[in-house]
Amino acid sequence: MSLQEIFWRPSAVTSVLVLLTLLFCRGSVSTPVIKVMSNDSSRVVLQCESAGWYPEPELLWLDGEGNLLSAGPTETLRGPDDLYTVSSRVTVEKRHSNNITCRVQQRNTNQSRETHIHVPGSAVRKEPSATFIIVIIGLLYVGAAIAFVWNFMLSKKPGASHVCFPSLYFLEFQRLNF
Ligand SMILES: *[C@@H]1O[C@H](CO)[C@@H](O)[C@H](O)[C@H]1NC(C)=O
Ligand SMILES: *[C@@H]1O[C@H](CO)[C@@H](O)[C@H](O)[C@H]1NC(C)=O
Ligand SMILES: *[C@@H]1O[C@H](CO)[C@@H](O)[C@H](O)[C@H]1NC(C)=O
Repeated sequence: MSLQEIFWRPSAVTSVLVLLTLLFCRGSVSTPVIKVMSNDSSRVVLQCESAGWYPEPELLWLDGEGNLLSAGPTETLRGPDDLYTVSSRVTVEKRHSNNITCRVQQRNTNQSRETHIHVPGSAVRKEPSATFIIVIIGLLYVGAAIAFVWNFMLSKKPGASHVCFPSLYFLEFQRLNF
């Protein structure tokens, strides 16, 4: 096989083309863009898109601690220039405020781009505080004491029957014009 034949072998041509593509496409990849698709009180739907990749990259969603988020399938489009555009959607619960990252990376070419978005947590309903519970229980005790005294006074009125239910106190109160 002559040197010329080896040079024009399809695999050699492909290798050179891939190499040239890698050289010239380096740095042409776009920084991922995150869009808010929907935003309600409990969750946000984010979409991330990045163009200009070759070969096909992978797209990852990460939370503030660097954990992978499970997202929808990555959609891949191949443009007329043979470059790939990838996009993916993720739903983030607003349980607490979070710093979400969309990372697009191509391991073979060691290229990676990422974008962050801050998702503020929705106002968390606070647990009733201990003080609040103590005040409520205190009021119940005071109420019970008042009811007991009132009940005792009503039962001392001539002709009054012993009443036990709060709603009856009101009727009794009206009847006796107390
Ligand atoms: C990728 O690049 C980083 C620095 O940018 C380097 O530390 C790492 O070794 C590279 N990995 C490969 C596989 O080339
Ligand atoms: C989100 O995290 C990245 C690092 O992972 C950091 O550079 C960025 O400043 C953070 N953004 C916010 C709003 O906290
Ligand atoms: C969602 O909407 C809330 C309130 O309108 C806003 O504070 C928050 O920044 C929005 N979230 C995102 C990710 O844009």
